[in-house]
Parts: sequence; C-alpha cells; structure tokens
Amino acid sequence: MQNFDYRTPTRLIFGRESIVKLPEVMRPLGKRVLLTYGGGSIKKAPVEREQSDACINSAERKEARPKVKLSLYGRVKELLKDFEITELPGIQPNPKYDPSVLDGVRLCKENNIDVILAVGGGSVLDCSKAIAAGACYDGEPWDLITYKVKAQKALPIVDIITLAATGSEFDPGGVISRTETNDKVGYVDPLLYPVCSILDPVYTFTVSKKQTAAGIADAMNHTIEQYFAEDTTLLNDGFCESMLRSLMVNGRKCLENPEDYTARAEMMLCCTYGCNRILSLGNSPSGWPCHGIEHALSAYYDITHGEGLAIITPRWMKHILSEKTIDRFVKYGINVFGIDSSLPKQEIAERSIDETYRFFESIGIPMHLREVGIDDSRLDEMARHIAENEGLEHAYAPLMEQNIKEILVASL
Ligand code: NZQ
Ligand code: ZN
Repeated sequence: MQNFDYRTPTRLIFGRESIVKLPEVMRPLGKRVLLTYGGGSIKKAPVEREQSDACINSAERKEARPKVKLSLYGRVKELLKDFEITELPGIQPNPKYDPSVLDGVRLCKENNIDVILAVGGGSVLDCSKAIAAGACYDGEPWDLITYKVKAQKALPIVDIITLAATGSEFDPGGVISRTETNDKVGYVDPLLYPVCSILDPVYTFTVSKKQTAAGIADAMNHTIEQYFAEDTTLLNDGFCESMLRSLMVNGRKCLENPEDYTARAEMMLCCTYGCNRILSLGNSPSGWPCHGIEHALSAYYDITHGEGLAIITPRWMKHILSEKTIDRFVKYGINVFGIDSSLPKQEIAERSIDETYRFFESIGIPMHLREVGIDDSRLDEMARHIAENEGLEHAYAPLMEQNIKEILVASL
C-alpha cells in the first residue's frame, strides 16, 4: 500500500430540506455573497417548503401543513434576505474562463465579496472555485489555473449542488475551458475545497434524462479510473465495485422515475464520493486516462463530459486489455457484472468490456463520437494535444500519442 496524506475539510449536509441550514452555514463566512448559477435551471426547478410555524395557527397545525412552492433561486434569496447578494448568472456547461471566471473575479473585487455561494451543477461549482482563487490574486487568474503561480488564498465557497455527477462538491478541483486555445484544464488545490456542500436529492428531480445518464457515466468512470491501477487493496476494490453496482441500479431507477427520492439520494451520494480520492487511498496513481482523453473532446467540441467518457471508456478498456491487465478485468467482470467465474479469463475480461458498453448504451447515451458531432478531421491534432498535456505515458497502462489516436479512431 502506498503512503498518503489526506484530509477532506468539506462539511456535507445531506437530505430533504437541508437548505434550511444555509443561513447558519453562511453567517460566519461574511455578509457579502457572490451567488453563482447557470443558464436558469435554478429559476425553473420548483421547490416545496412548509409554511413557517409563524404563519400557522394552532387549528391549522392539526391539518396537513400547507406547502409553499417557489423556485430554488427564490428559496435561496428568501433564506439569505439579510445578506448582500451580487449575482453571476449564465455559467455554461464546460465553464469558460472568458467570460465567466473573469467576470466573477471582477465582481468579487468590485463588491468586496466575502463568500461565494454556487448553486447548480459541477460547471457552476468548478467556475466558482477558479473565481475564489482569482479573487484573492492580483494577476491574471489563468496563472493560477495553470499552476504558473501557486494561489496563497481563496475565498470560501459554499454550494448547493443540483446535479449528481462530478463530485466537485467534495473535492478540491475544478475544470475550466479556454475556447480560443482548445484548453480544458483541471485545477486542483486544497484551498478550493468547499467549506460546506448542501445536498438535497429533491433538487435533482428535474435533471433531464440526458444529464442524468451523463452523470451516471461520469461517476462510474471516476470509479473505474481509480479501480484500474497497479497497486490496489481489497478494501478499495470493494468500495469501487459497490459504487459501480449502486450507480447502475439506482441510475436506472432515476431514469425510470425521476422523482424516486431513494434512488436519487443514493446516486447523489455515490457521485459525491467519486472524486475526493476516498476510493483509492493507498492505491498507486492510475493517471485517469479516460478523463485525459475526454477533456480534449469537450475542449475541442464542447460535448457533455459524461457522454464523452461513456464513449471512450469501453474503447480504452479494449485497448489496454493485455496479459498485464487481464486480472483486473476478470475481477471487475465477476464482482461488478456477476459474470460466471468459471469461464476462461479472456472471455470474462471481454464480456466485462461488452457489459460496460451495453450498460451505457442502455441508459440512452450515444456511443459513437460521430453521434455527438465529432468526425475524424481533428483526431490527429487532439491525440497530439492529449499526449503533450495529459501525461498519459505514466498511466496504469501507458498511452502514447499513437495509442490515444487508436482509441479515438475506435470511438468514432
Ligand atoms: O445551466 P443550468 O440552467 O443550470 O442547466 C444545467 C446544464 O445545462 C443543467 N442542470 C443542472 N442542474 C439541473 C439542471 N437541469 C435541470 N434541473 C437541475 N436540477 O444540466 C446541464 C449540465 O450542467 P453541468 O454543471 O455542466 O453538469 P455537470 O455537473 O455534469 O458538470 C460538468 C462539468 O464538470 C467537470 C466536467 O469536465 C464539466 O466541465 N468535471 C468536474 C470535476 C470536478 N470538479 O471534480 C470532475 C469531473 O470529472 C468533471 O471533469
Ligand atoms: Zn468526470
């Protein structure tokens, strides 16, 4: 087992109506809040709350309590009525450095912001993390994101996550895109852990089938990226196998009935665990190869991250299946998909890859790059970009430019 030095400082408040703790969480962090959000889902998603006790007389108390309906945005504004709120709306999926990070940094400086409240999916939170660091730095925020300069400080971040996928709510990373240079860069710094993440599965009821499926694929891939490593433990393998089974079972239930609270809740927790290293403490590094490849796809073509991963994953698996890796595939096939352990190893391994493909296909993910608008015209350029920037020659199964190109071609 490898040495590690690990700490997750993020407070998680999980469950129905956990938002009521928002003022208590925010108060010690300051009064001036930058509220960040995306393209408007938080203004559409209806949120029910009970009328406050003050509004209900004792006779009514015996009856079922009346509910008040308002949007998540309305609920946040209502709970933070005593705070000074500046807003940064319009953060896009695959959040952009320009304008969102730059606008956010400017707003923080102009308004002397104390704390950022991110309400939305991983893109909103990732963008907020880059803003949090940029707001405490005098130079160009890109210097921090690319590690040219080490951040000394960041504003505190609180989030209300509305889409189960990335695990950004429990990790110190964010991924920022710079369109003009086709860069999509992962920025990780312990300063970027959210102070607190509020997770109410009800807020994910309105997530579309497409984004729900992409979230399942993203969290499954986070687990797979950590499972396929040289040095692993029985403990971590068990965590990962259980995560994968839970994501498949509960993910399907979420797609069949988007308002299934129990399934949405378990899926949400699985996703939260995905990226904070808890599944692989003591493992040797795996290099996260599918993410290395996918980040280029979404940088060049702005596709949905989870869909890109689902397309790449089985092709990557096929590509790296070898004498060295076969035992991992056998264990994965038996413990995740229940493949008959008496079959020959090669057959179990190949079936496990087919099962992975078929699962993603069965939840409605387009399984070819062409279906998400990517043709063969820029594959060479992307393969070179990935080989030069992602360090995949050090991955569990090392990938050179030619290997990356072959995986991309097989994914077309
Ligand atoms: O913009 P709005 O209107 O909010 O709509 C969003 C967006 O269109 C919508 N949505 C979010 N919550 C909703 C909802 N629609 C209805 N009801 C709700 N409750 O969903 C769309 C996608 O949102 P986005 O935030 O982009 O999705 P996701 O959470 O999957 O985040 C993807 C981004 O995270 C990065 C990805 O690369 C990508 O840029 N990642 C971040 C990681 C991290 N920080 O640890 C790790 C991941 O591997 C990943 O790379
Ligand atoms: Zn991911």
